[in-house]
Amino acid sequence: MKIAVSSTCSLFLTRTLFLIFLIASAKPDPDPLQDYCVADISSTPPFFINGSPCIDPKLAISAHFVTSGLSKPGNTADNPFGFNVTLTSIRNMPGVNTQGLAMARVDIAPLGLVPLHWHPRASEVAIVIQGNVLVGFVDTSNRLFMQQLRTGDSFVFPKAMMHFLFNLDSLNVALVISGLNSQNPGAELVALASFSSNPALPVEVLQRSFRINEQDVLRIRKNLGG
Ligand SMILES: *[C@@H]1O[C@H](CO)[C@@H](O)[C@H](O)[C@H]1NC(C)=O
Repeated sequence: MKIAVSSTCSLFLTRTLFLIFLIASAKPDPDPLQDYCVADISSTPPFFINGSPCIDPKLAISAHFVTSGLSKPGNTADNPFGFNVTLTSIRNMPGVNTQGLAMARVDIAPLGLVPLHWHPRASEVAIVIQGNVLVGFVDTSNRLFMQQLRTGDSFVFPKAMMHFLFNLDSLNVALVISGLNSQNPGAELVALASFSSNPALPVEVLQRSFRINEQDVLRIRKNLGG
């Protein structure tokens, strides 16, 4: 009996510790230390901190907490992949500073693609407001999770996992809204980070990374506008 109790206890302890470890390793932005910290975007800060300095809280007004930035569709015509992401940030909504949140409006042209990318600082949950969208992510064991979403469906992209969104409709624009648990999620596009970095990665590194020849490297670079 004693043994059973202690082994249950240690199992509980192990699970609790594991859970704490999981939560700790999936931490979003740090918690705010005050009600709000409306970002001071009026000038270049004299020093650099994690986030943005705030204005005097007494000067905060309602307008700091609102943006109409996501009300209009982004223009997808000038984007070679056929998408446009509009994001809340401390620029258009200074009150979001330190809140650990961002919202994205993603417009995708007919058969347009939000190409393979990841957000180093955020998990993302997306809801399809309008459209028929194929989404997927690849985990660290290279396993693909893919799903076709229709209007009203939501999908979560785990933090920092490579993912894509593809509008399957050849006639209609798709509209997706995403919530992200960082005020500055960041995005790194696989194709651009690899082939359009500045300065450029050595051709040989790309050749060997993708097992392609020099001509392939130059062609992909050219296709990506590099
Ligand atoms: C996204 O749409 C906005 C609004 O139409 C436009 O100003 C911006 O240039 C577009 N971005 C890209 C990358 O096409």
